[in-house]
Amino acid sequence: MKVLVTGGAGFIGSHTCVQLMSAGHEVVIVDNFCNSKPETIGNIEKIVGRPVHLYRNDLRDLEAMRRVFAEHHIDAVIHFAGLKSVPESIQKPLAYYENNLGSTFVLCQAMLEADCKRIVFSSSATVYGNDNPVPFKEGMPTSAINPYGYTKVMIEQFLTDLSAADPAWSICLLRYFNPVGAHPSGLLGEDPNGIPNNLLPYVSQVAAGLRSEVIVYGNDYDTPDGTGIRDYVHVTDLARGHLAAVQYVLEHNGTEIINLGTGQGTSVMEIMEAYSHACGRALPYRIASRRPGDIAVCYADPEKARSILGWEAQKDVGQMCSDSWNFAKNRYEVAPSS
Ligand code: NAD
Ligand code: UD1
Repeated sequence: MKVLVTGGAGFIGSHTCVQLMSAGHEVVIVDNFCNSKPETIGNIEKIVGRPVHLYRNDLRDLEAMRRVFAEHHIDAVIHFAGLKSVPESIQKPLAYYENNLGSTFVLCQAMLEADCKRIVFSSSATVYGNDNPVPFKEGMPTSAINPYGYTKVMIEQFLTDLSAADPAWSICLLRYFNPVGAHPSGLLGEDPNGIPNNLLPYVSQVAAGLRSEVIVYGNDYDTPDGTGIRDYVHVTDLARGHLAAVQYVLEHNGTEIINLGTGQGTSVMEIMEAYSHACGRALPYRIASRRPGDIAVCYADPEKARSILGWEAQKDVGQMCSDSWNFAKNRYEVAPSS
């Protein structure tokens, strides 16, 4: 099959392209590189040994999207492209609503015109908001507490409405928990611009010596060690989940919402310990106050992914940290220790 991957040069998209191509599928990437680097495309090709079709354009450019669908018979779309920083979304709500909603509307318009109605969308555990009890299950009410989260809630609703109006649509809304790790080759990984907001990229920069210490946001939560608990999931496990989801939308109609998480919670201090083990030295840290908007505990009920997609996460936190460190060492050119 031929799959259009929007945002295919990004962190999760690049790993998914490798997964799809390794399974024998063809991939067409649309990316404007606003949060990724063109070199990633070469690294995908190096890993799989085949070229990808790349369109360097903005998803909001309808004419360009029409061209993509005119030049390729697309069987299904995986829609990763979007802006994803929570603090930035609070500072620049217009940019976030405009990019995330606008690009989805233009994409769906181009899909409709090409009669391609199968799509897998990158949603987030953020849509469970602050009031649901863990583990989070797909049927729970959704809400948001920042513009980024609202874009996910709104796009989920928009896509659900689309398939309610036209049963020919087949839509899978994947709610990721905390994607981390990197490709075992060390060629693909998470490399955010500026100061990382998320824990693992920050810890990897401390381990690489780019930053002096990890700032632990709160040790007074009602958790065993007082630090926040999250469901970290290896990005290559997520990539397998997308392959299963795209096969699912080819065979079913309607809308399906599926969590992609491990079902296991890990605290910030447990991550620090696992990462220290991976990089071979204790990492400096400092306890700070809680980060506004954070919840104490977040983890998935992964049962639906297992029963509907036959998908289960396989890699543990130790593997996530060692693959992340392997990528960071390459990326930040850390000299081997003597
Ligand atoms: P990423 O920023 O690495 O990748 C997104 C890609 O989309 C980038 O390559 C960027 O250049 C591209 N892009 C953005 N807007 C575009 C536009 N208008 N036109 C063309 N290309 C555009 O992010 P990621 O971590 O790979 O996340 C992928 C998706 O998954 C996002 O929608 C994100 O919100 C969602 N998600 C991510 C996480 C996470 O922790 N990484 C968690 C939950 C959900
Ligand atoms: C964040 C986003 C969420 C998004 C998810 C995946 C916020 C408030 N939430 O979730 O919307 O879907 O990323 O992209 O940004 N931590 C530290 N020090 C740090 C960074 C984080 O102690 O420097 C702690 C946090 O308090 C949390 C845990 O580490 O307990 C994980 O944080 P992070 O990686 O930012 O992910 P989330 O907060 O789960």
